[in-house]
Amino acid sequence: MNPDRLQRRILDWYRASARDLPWRRPPGSSAPVDPYRIWLSEVMLQQTTVAHATPYFHAFLGRWPTVTALADAEDSEVMAAWAGLGYYARARNLLACARAVRDRFQGRFPETEAGLLGLPGVGPYTAAAVAAIAFGEPANVVDGNVERVISRLYAVQAPLPAARPQLRELAAGLVVAEAPADWAQALMDLGATVCRPRSPACGQCPAAGDCAAEASGDPGAWPRKAPR
Ligand code: ADE
Repeated sequence: MNPDRLQRRILDWYRASARDLPWRRPPGSSAPVDPYRIWLSEVMLQQTTVAHATPYFHAFLGRWPTVTALADAEDSEVMAAWAGLGYYARARNLLACARAVRDRFQGRFPETEAGLLGLPGVGPYTAAAVAAIAFGEPANVVDGNVERVISRLYAVQAPLPAARPQLRELAAGLVVAEAPADWAQALMDLGATVCRPRSPACGQCPAAGDCAAEASGDPGAWPRKAPR
């Protein structure tokens, strides 16, 4: 593969066909983005689809427009608003995180991946996603969708979950330092809409020609799974 060409094609594809999602700014835009919106969307999207999370996202923002407003809410109100999203531990962590931002950082999110990782309930994925999307840090944003995309691009033979460290390293090598927010979201969109778990749409993929799994003729055979 040709990494420079691959990065350019994926970014061009994203800029032409990014999903219009309520927490996003248009691709390529340098308008400031509210880290509260990015953090809230990422926490919600860890457990559910974009379609299911979207009305909750609007409801939360309408009711609690800032992280401080959310921090000041009653636990029971937030739990009730979360009902239907599941995993109540996440709602508790959401509140704990909002209160930490209010009490430790005067209501402003830390602006680095390392700083974000120090917040309650913020794990490596969320810290990287918020750092890249809200603050433009060239963080390595890897979720299950991105693991699948990377495993196919490089036809990684090790099965999941053992392949994770290798996939992270390969993903780190592709981060576009000049456009970290677009790059992270481009890989998310590619995984969600084209490089799907079953029947990937290689005919519509900007990585076609630079993807080892596509070249194999059986791209759906990645990521490899350990025999049970
Ligand atoms: N899934 C998780 N985070 C996402 C994001 N920022 N955009 C689209 N899908 C996502």
